[in-house]
Amino acid sequence: MTILLTGATGKVGRRVAARLDDLRVPFRPASRTSATPFDWTDETSWPAALDGVRSAFVVPYDAAPVTRPFVDVAIKSGVERIVLLSGRGVDVPDYLPPHLMEGNAHIDGEAALRPAAVEWTILRPGWFAQNFSEGFFRDSVLAGELRLPAGDGAASYVDADDIAAVAVAALTEDRHVGQTYELSGPRAVTMAEAAAEIAAASGRDVRYTHVDHDDLVRELVNDGWPAADADEYVSLIGPIRRGIDAHLSDGVERALGRPPRDFRDVVREAAAAGAWS
Ligand SMILES: NC(=O)c1ccc[n+]([C@@H]2O[C@H](COP(=O)([O-])OP(=O)(O)OC[C@H]3O[C@@H](n4cnc5c(N)ncnc54)[C@H](OP(=O)(O)O)[C@@H]3O)[C@@H](O)[C@H]2O)c1
Repeated sequence: MTILLTGATGKVGRRVAARLDDLRVPFRPASRTSATPFDWTDETSWPAALDGVRSAFVVPYDAAPVTRPFVDVAIKSGVERIVLLSGRGVDVPDYLPPHLMEGNAHIDGEAALRPAAVEWTILRPGWFAQNFSEGFFRDSVLAGELRLPAGDGAASYVDADDIAAVAVAALTEDRHVGQTYELSGPRAVTMAEAAAEIAAASGRDVRYTHVDHDDLVRELVNDGWPAADADEYVSLIGPIRRGIDAHLSDGVERALGRPPRDFRDVVREAAAAGAWS
């Protein structure tokens, strides 16, 4: 009854792996670097990864809508349960500009899974708290300045370990079948507050500076970023500035029967683990 764990080396996947290890639940890590190589862009790598698998955790590929064909192949291979990591905002019109594939891949992945002949659970996390310690804001934290077009907008950052806990519950317990869990932390945090809390926890000088969307795209392109990547990165911040990522979601409480962890606790833990040392 092996579980296939895609994205096993990522922020959520490695926390799911640690939790499954603790529970002594057998799983097969699957990414481009795992013992059984799995590549979203190479369908020929999927059957070996799916061999003998009954449940799968899908950390999707954001650059193309490949969840749809994967669900098909997985069901034909005998998979009975799929837990999909999607994103909060997929059901909000104009949450992201329509040309960004990231949003479209999630929308298509959910649409493919819901009617499929498989037990499914969908996780829709908001912004991960770990973006500051392990993800795309980390370099800015180390440089001492978060330069972003977020204005005074806030986001209710969710702990990647809470996302992993919900994923493991959905993989191992029956009561989550057919549920869509929107996941956030317990508090909305502005970029200025995030910088201050990281500074306090890490002892580093970290501040937030608002930069207009077009100015930041120009800055990044001047720094050597491809124009499309700069546009995508900066566009992702739009929902924070527009105030549509600040609301709280009840998914952690509904799935686990406990409140989500606060951004400050996640940041303190990251600092103690040397995330910014
Ligand atoms: N960050 C956020 O705030 C946020 C919020 C909401 C939703 N999400 C969604 O969460 C997902 C990302 O989760 P995450 O942050 O845990 O990911 P992550 O830390 O960026 O890790 C990505 C994982 O995917 C694997 N991977 C990358 N390219 C691959 C490919 N071509 N084939 C197979 N595996 C590949 C990587 O492993 P290898 O490099 O070993 O292949 C890694 O394990 C995305 O779908 C994103 O849209 C993120």
